[in-house]
Amino acid sequence: MATRKKTDIRPSINTNRYQALFTPGYDWFSSLSLIIMFSLLLGTLLLPNIQRAPLGNKLTSNTTYSMNVTDCPGYTLGSLQESVIGLTAQLSLAGPACNAFGLDISDLTIEVTYQSQSTLHVKIYDTANQQFTIPESVIERPAAPTTSYTGSSDLVFNYDATPFAFWITRRSDPDAMPLFDTRVSSLPPTPIPPFNASDPSTAFDGFPLVFEDQYLQLASALPYGTNIYGLGEVIASSGFRRDIGTDGGVGTIQTHWSRDVADPIDQNMYGSHPIYLEHRYNATTGKASSSGVLLLGYGTDQTSLISPLIVFQRRGFRYLPANT
Ligand SMILES: *[C@@H]1O[C@H](CO)[C@@H](O)[C@H](O)[C@H]1NC(C)=O
Ligand SMILES: *[C@@H]1O[C@H](CO)[C@@H](O)[C@H](O)[C@H]1NC(C)=O
Ligand SMILES: *[C@@H]1O[C@H](CO)[C@@H](O)[C@H](O)[C@H]1NC(C)=O
Ligand SMILES: *[C@@H]1O[C@H](CO)[C@@H](O)[C@H](O)[C@H]1NC(C)=O
Repeated sequence: MATRKKTDIRPSINTNRYQALFTPGYDWFSSLSLIIMFSLLLGTLLLPNIQRAPLGNKLTSNTTYSMNVTDCPGYTLGSLQESVIGLTAQLSLAGPACNAFGLDISDLTIEVTYQSQSTLHVKIYDTANQQFTIPESVIERPAAPTTSYTGSSDLVFNYDATPFAFWITRRSDPDAMPLFDTRVSSLPPTPIPPFNASDPSTAFDGFPLVFEDQYLQLASALPYGTNIYGLGEVIASSGFRRDIGTDGGVGTIQTHWSRDVADPIDQNMYGSHPIYLEHRYNATTGKASSSGVLLLGYGTDQTSLISPLIVFQRRGFRYLPANT
């Protein structure tokens, strides 16, 4: 198994102000002021003591996977139903399946719940409920709120229907860069060549939402040079503040596959804590704020965080600077 370390990553590809966060299939939730939960599940096997899992393993069919997300069509939102606690809608595959690293799932459901003044839960799952999700008996989710926060929460869910994308803003700071932003226009142009020329899976060929039975991809832009903490369990050579590919850093690929390994530097360890805290400072306004995002999910074999780029092509997170 190849081990992806920070030293495997090229320096930041540009010096623009955004970074992207890519997260393949998981469920996110956070603890500070933002809770985003994505119930994205992959029906893959969990194997012990693996640093990085192979892509394109054929677990579900004889389909030949394209190993390339260039032609992945994304999704279109429809059947929107708003309620006092949030909204529900259907996401339909917006074109022919690309079957990049798994089989595209045509019909998804998105549920957005304004859980409190400062927490928002976004859940995306296959409508047929065939993909495995973390049972409530293992990780209990918050009950549905009994108060409506849709008009008062500081976190606001915004979306484009076609292609489907969403972004989260603060009601109290509407002009600031979104806290989370999956719009392709906010992300770096693609294709971005592989970091490792021998490993095509380290390329970023596009940033559509990809939801396959063995692969998930979700990318978000972040302010350039922001402060990211978390995404453990890891002993990071950069210290608590993760190397996001700025200030001379090379970025990070963080595997979230739990291994029974005690204390390697810059590798995945015993546990998986797919949550990050972001602290940002706006030099124009002099204001600082923090938020957190948790991806709560299961079934993938790993999550990678790459920081000059964040790509998370299969089962991982990556950060990368964007160009816009
Ligand atoms: C895969 O191919 C083998 C051999 O042709 C066949 O027996 C099997 O049924 C196929 N499996 C699926 C899921 O199509
Ligand atoms: C900083 O604040 C200004 C004024 O609200 C806003 O226009 C700008 O987008 C903010 N910068 C970021 C990176 O959010
Ligand atoms: C590049 O990828 C190849 C194939 O996966 C791997 O053997 C090699 O160790 C990688 N190189 C680095 C520097 O990670
Ligand atoms: C994916 O396909 C695009 C378009 O054909 C191509 O430019 C890109 O190099 C491919 N990516 C990989 C990793 O082969």
